[in-house]
Amino acid sequence: MTQPVGSAAAARPIVAANWKMNGMRRDGRDLAQGLARLKLAGGELACDIIVCPPVTLLFELRDVLQAAAIALGGQDCHDAEKGAHTGDISARMLVDCGCHHVILGHSERRANHGETSETVARKAATALEAGLNVILCVGESEADRDTGNALDVVGDQLKISLPVQGSTKDIVIAYEPVWAIGTGRIPNAAQIGKMHRHIREIYKATKSGDVNGLRVLYGGSVNAENASDILSIEGVDGALVGGASLSAEKFWGICAHYGE
Ligand code: PGA
Repeated sequence: MTQPVGSAAAARPIVAANWKMNGMRRDGRDLAQGLARLKLAGGELACDIIVCPPVTLLFELRDVLQAAAIALGGQDCHDAEKGAHTGDISARMLVDCGCHHVILGHSERRANHGETSETVARKAATALEAGLNVILCVGESEADRDTGNALDVVGDQLKISLPVQGSTKDIVIAYEPVWAIGTGRIPNAAQIGKMHRHIREIYKATKSGDVNGLRVLYGGSVNAENASDILSIEGVDGALVGGASLSAEKFWGICAHYGE
């Protein structure tokens, strides 16, 4: 498998699992162990794998994932370093649990917690400062897509959500159309390719830096059956996977696209 176009040789594709609010400790252990077994038996993949479980499972799963060279990530963090924020988790707490990554700006956070792109940028700055890599999510609603505003909406989200700090080494973008998340519906290949090109252009204009190593993941109803078609689209450097990541076999079926 060659490196996707638009990525520097050093920037490996990423397949990341977003378990969302799913999994008791036993479920989480079983899922992580199943995935670790598949990874250890499956040979080399030309991608990095990240698992982002609920916060209650982070520490519990750290060792089993680490033993299989699967990275650990959080699903969110606060924009403050610490303090009086009942119920929140700081970036440094994620690091303390063994995380190297954090998902920020997921549409469910934006919708359910009123997170704005300004908040996301502050969170990203704090996360980078703590040493985390950021998976920054953007995506249009169905109404934005239907009215022809998808590119503008996603471009604006990205411009504002990107922190001043960071580079293509520690920031990854995930394009996740809201209407494709958990619905079984996905944009066509031309729409995905066009959005990923647009994201690269906006990133370059906003960060005025080298865009070659930028990884842009696609997320929204990726499964083992459609993964190869999606991951073969030019400019798609991996996937952020929700529902299908709750089965080790299904998730592995997606990662296997990057196998020999
Ligand atoms: P899905 O979720 O794969 O279940 O559509 C993706 C996501 O929300 O990250």
